[in-house]
Amino acid sequence: MNRLSGKTALITGAARGIGYEFAKAYLAEGARVAIADINIARAREATAELGQGAVAVEMDVASQDSIDAAVVQAAEALGGIDILINNAALFSAAPLVEITRDDFHRLFDINVGGTLFTMQAVAKHMIARGKGGKIINMASQAGRRGEALVATYCATKAAVISLTQSAGLNLISHGINVNAIAPGVVDGEHWDGVDAFFAKYEGKPLGQKKKEVGDAVPYGRMGRASDLTGMAIFLATHEADYIVAQTYNVDGGQWMS
Ligand SMILES: NC(=O)c1ccc[n+]([C@@H]2O[C@H](COP(=O)([O-])OP(=O)(O)OC[C@H]3O[C@@H](n4cnc5c(N)ncnc54)[C@H](O)[C@@H]3O)[C@@H](O)[C@H]2O)c1
Repeated sequence: MNRLSGKTALITGAARGIGYEFAKAYLAEGARVAIADINIARAREATAELGQGAVAVEMDVASQDSIDAAVVQAAEALGGIDILINNAALFSAAPLVEITRDDFHRLFDINVGGTLFTMQAVAKHMIARGKGGKIINMASQAGRRGEALVATYCATKAAVISLTQSAGLNLISHGINVNAIAPGVVDGEHWDGVDAFFAKYEGKPLGQKKKEVGDAVPYGRMGRASDLTGMAIFLATHEADYIVAQTYNVDGGQWMS
């Protein structure tokens, strides 16, 4: 299908995982995609795998200079940016009494500041271009409620939901739709890291937490990155023009809101 034919997208954190899957799905729908990642070597590998229509862009969403340079580079390479997916994020976990300020700042800089200031830079570009656009932020079920060992990450994802609401209300007057996707538990390298945190703090063997969370999903298994692509495509099409400032759960029935 060609639901995104002629469109261009900047996807942060697209060198692997969900962002990579989004890039693959967008390319299959006829879009051209900037694979923006702090890990430029992996972004280049991804671009080589994905083939024509994909370009690698080095980007650290925690650095304003890097955001500005990446937006310029992506816009030049693609001939403008129609769609932004704010997907780059870090996870960490610790009991409340062990959370450090450094880790708190690192997660807020990347997950929240990265989302806000990449939205800002791309929104400036979209407003100047005068063609509107679509912005999709990656929230999480973690932003819907707290978790005992995951205070900081949960707070960053609650902030992403809130930013999506404010930015959505502010930017729709420019024809820019801002919405978010809240996944549940999605298998991949990210969750290997999450599993290792729980192994450490809950004294579980590696792989145990992953199995438990997968079994607990009403759908009957962990999510796959490909479970999220339908929503990511839909929100980028004209069919979603009247959808503003929303966060959609795509989580196999984990959370209802
Ligand atoms: N996997 C899940 O279970 C899950 C669940 C809910 C929400 N999410 C969210 O979905 C998004 C993608 O998750 P994923 O599982 O693919 O994660 P992942 O860890 O596999 O991929 C994240 C990517 O972001 C890149 N990145 C990290 N820091 C960066 C920075 N400062 N600047 C630019 N790029 C940076 C990494 O290099 C990596 O390629 C994240 O926002 C995550 O919070 C994931």
